[in-house]
Amino acid sequence: MEEFERHGIGVVQGRDAGARALRSPGLTSDFGGGSPSVLLRDGDDHARVRGVLREIIAELEPFPDSLRADVEAVVAGLGPSFDLVRGFARPVAGLVTSAVLGVALDDVFLDHLEATTANLDVFGGTDRAGQASAFRLSVQLSRAPAGPGGLTALRAAHAAGRLDDDELALNPVVLAHAAYENSLNFLACAGLELATSGPRSVRELVTAICPARYVLRTGPDGPVAISLADGLPFGLGPHACPGSGVALAEGEIALGALAKLLAGGCEVTEVEWKTHPVFHGLAKAVVTVSGNR
Ligand code: HEM
Repeated sequence: MEEFERHGIGVVQGRDAGARALRSPGLTSDFGGGSPSVLLRDGDDHARVRGVLREIIAELEPFPDSLRADVEAVVAGLGPSFDLVRGFARPVAGLVTSAVLGVALDDVFLDHLEATTANLDVFGGTDRAGQASAFRLSVQLSRAPAGPGGLTALRAAHAAGRLDDDELALNPVVLAHAAYENSLNFLACAGLELATSGPRSVRELVTAICPARYVLRTGPDGPVAISLADGLPFGLGPHACPGSGVALAEGEIALGALAKLLAGGCEVTEVEWKTHPVFHGLAKAVVTVSGNR
């Protein structure tokens, strides 16, 4: 919080003040750079791009059985000792992101997707490696053969005149990042909670963990960071997360399977945290399951 203020960014805290700010027509996500990203614009252009993304996400509601089986297989394949980030959260979030886009995503892709988070540097966006990763993924997706799913739907929307060239170039990466990063951080942190404090509902966990700690807006008094930590994990207003249903279903399946695995007790070691000012997550946490498996 002090870091925001040091950079001249105001902070809005508390559920009611946060909800008012997120719904305020006086605060915008459009920072004036003319970005084609759904996250960084408002008004009719935002609604148009968001409408396309929402149709894509709706294809995973209800959560497809084959995807459920793939997620459960990740948990079934965990050894007696595993890293909650690399062994559990990353493959699960990767599978769901792959299903959203309709494209197979390998480890190199996921590494670059994680690196683009640095590009969302709230204090100036000067991270060159993050920008290079985002550009690389945009080019890679523009050439990727796509099966049924989000990338094909985005291309169809472009062909139908619903998206322009720049919107088609950037929003597949934005969608992939939105689907991946918060889910990755949520699943790992929730896994740690289950391992150390016992069972809790997925809704309780997402509210308590709140993986996207702040969202940024700008208004007449300059930029503001709106805290989501007091009960608004999916945001509110025109940009409220359109993937919350998928995120909760993903959490129910993955965390339900993990809770069963941990029911006999476990030990957690090597807990390391990420340090991003907005995206709250674990870098590593090794779980060793007790007893004979
Ligand atoms: C626990 C997991 C998740 C959390 C906590 C989360 C949280 C959020 C939040 C707070 C926003 C609002 C950003 C803003 O107001 O500027 C957002 C936007 C978004 N999320 Fe999620 N999200 C999650 C998972 C997902 C998933 C799985 C998908 C896709 C299937 C997704 C797709 C999106 C998209 C496309 C946006 C941009 C919406 C817009 O700008 O209109 N999210 N998310």
